[in-house]
Amino acid sequence: DHAGYDLKLIVMDYLGVNGFDIVDAGCKSSTSCDYPRFAHDVCELIMKGEAPLGILICGTGIGMSMSANRYKGIRAALCANEYHAKMSRAHNDANILCLGSRVIGSELALSIVAAWLNSNFEGDRHLRRVNLIDELS
Ligand code: RB5
Repeated sequence: DHAGYDLKLIVMDYLGVNGFDIVDAGCKSSTSCDYPRFAHDVCELIMKGEAPLGILICGTGIGMSMSANRYKGIRAALCANEYHAKMSRAHNDANILCLGSRVIGSELALSIVAAWLNSNFEGDRHLRRVNLIDELS
């Protein structure tokens, strides 16, 4: 959303330089807007199989994670450090990374993005637990 706009540009630049294909589903400026709309659009892209992973950025990351986790099959992780990022992929198979632009600086944000993208789901007992999230809710 508007609070995440500047950090989005930095993250997109980083991803572009590192060879990722990017779909920008976010707002086009830092004019005030409503974060659930962008969470919705990114979740739709993932649920339709048009993107494997997504990154949502708002001021705290909280509104984005609350919104995204309402969608079936979406596992959005709000991460404030590299350990959160690594473990959200390894144990929770997170398919959306949420960042709070007013909580972390851009250098840490890029380090979190790198840790997230470089980590893989470990499966096994973690797959059973991830499946239970959907089964029990
Ligand atoms: C916008 O001011 C702010 O509320 C939003 O970016 C986000 O932090 C909500 O969770």
